[in-house]
Order: sequence, then structure tokens, then C-alpha cells
Amino acid sequence: MTVVGIIGSGNIGAQVARRAVSVGYDVAIANSRGPQTLEGLIEELGPRARAVDVEEAARAADVVVVAIPIDKYPQLPADAFAGKVVLDAGNYYPDWNGRFPALDDESTTTAELLQEHLSASHVVKAFSNIAAADITTDGQPAGSPSRRALIIAGDDEAAKEQATRLINAFGFDVVDAGKLAEGWRYQRDTPAYGARLDVDGARRALSEARRYRDM
Ligand SMILES: NC(=O)c1ccc[n+]([C@@H]2O[C@H](COP(=O)([O-])OP(=O)(O)OC[C@H]3O[C@@H](n4cnc5c(N)ncnc54)[C@H](OP(=O)(O)O)[C@@H]3O)[C@@H](O)[C@H]2O)c1
Repeated sequence: MTVVGIIGSGNIGAQVARRAVSVGYDVAIANSRGPQTLEGLIEELGPRARAVDVEEAARAADVVVVAIPIDKYPQLPADAFAGKVVLDAGNYYPDWNGRFPALDDESTTTAELLQEHLSASHVVKAFSNIAAADITTDGQPAGSPSRRALIIAGDDEAAKEQATRLINAFGFDVVDAGKLAEGWRYQRDTPAYGARLDVDGARRALSEARRYRDM
């Protein structure tokens, strides 16, 4: 059985965990304060879920979802993530994360920062442009008319295939935005950010995205 490791048990992490167990995945979830703080969530999630520390969530996982503030990325133990497919939900909110000059001058993107830190992993930007609440409400069976599409980007095709399988199982179509460096196309302040879009709508939104420097 595929194990989804989840780093972060806040808005996004908990919702990914709920959806994962409801569609049949096992979950190993971690936060910053330790497994003992996750008792209530584990009780809610049931026997498919267990609370672990960050290292164990990464090591036990077939695919790892990182759902923590981007300024905390350097705290992740990179060795434990080596070789893993890592789905990055992160977005840059300077008031929350502090200033990142390389994001401000758009010389990199949030998921590339995670990839730089987890250099032996295969990072895919995913779950970053859907409101947490929608993860458990918006999924539909494949083939449903106007099925909502989530957008991914990444440098490793096999990792993107694995991400696509997971997202499909969650009930969403997938649109591939290209390489990780294209992740800006669905970051905060773009048409795709938080929008309920089907495949055609997501493709259109990606093509209409503008960099801050061109606005
Ligand atoms: N909220 C949304 O609707 C939404 C949608 C799409 C993407 N995102 C993005 O997803 C990321 C997380 O957002 P959120 O709203 O879920 O945040 P949140 O509710 O504040 O949760 C953050 C989680 O990260 C954990 N954490 C922080 N540092 C950690 C570390 N070093 N190791 C392990 N866990 C750590 C926290 O642990 P503790 O619980 O122990 O404090 C907490 O569980 C952000 O980049 C955000 O932009 C959010």
C-alpha cells in the first residue's frame, strides 16, 4: 500500500491527510511539535494514519507532501528525503515568511528553494494553488464533466507521473505546467491561484500568468 508522508499538520497537511485516508492511502504525518500533539487528528483519521516525527514521515513515505511555511524548509532533514518524490504545497507570503530576496527579484521560485535544499529528492510543486478546504470537497471521479484540475510542475517526469496518480486518486485532473521553474505561473497573484478550474481553464490561466516584474 502506498504511504503518503505528510510534513505539516496545519490547514493543508491535515486536509491532505483526510483526503488520502478517505481514498485508501496510508498516512504518516508529522509536525514541528512532535507526534504526541497529533493524537486528536490521528483519532479522527483512523487506523490508516499514524503520527511520527519528520524524519520517519519522510523515510516511511512513497510520496511526501511538504506543507509547512517556506521559511522552515532549511529545517527539514534532507537525508531522510533522499530519492523521494516530494510534493511541495508552499507559497510565499512575505508578511508570514519574512523576505526572500531571490523570490522578490524572481530569480527563483518557492519549489526551487525546496529542491535546492532537498537536492537528492524529486520535487513537484503540487497542492499549492488549492484552498485547503477544497481538498476534501472538490474531488470527483475521473471523467466527471468540468472536473477540477490541479497544476503540477517539476523537473523529473517519473515524479510527476507519481504526483499525477495521487492527485487523480484524490479526485482531480492534472495539468502539467512544465519544469519546476515554471511554478511561478500558479503562484500567489496569478489567475490560477485558488481558482476552481477544469483542464482547459487551468491551461488558459497558466498562459495568462504574468511575472510581478511585468505587471
Ligand atoms: N492554507 C491553505 O489554504 C493553503 C493552500 C495552498 C497552499 N498552502 C501553503 O501550504 C503551506 C502550509 O500552509 P498551512 O496553511 O497549512 O500552514 P499552517 O496551518 O500554519 O500549518 C503549518 C504546519 O507546518 C508545521 N511545521 C512548521 N515548521 C515545521 C518543521 N520544521 N517541521 C515539521 N513541521 C513544521 C507546523 O507544525 P506545528 O503544528 O507543530 O506548529 C504546522 O503543522 C504554506 O506554504 C502555504 O502557503 C496553504
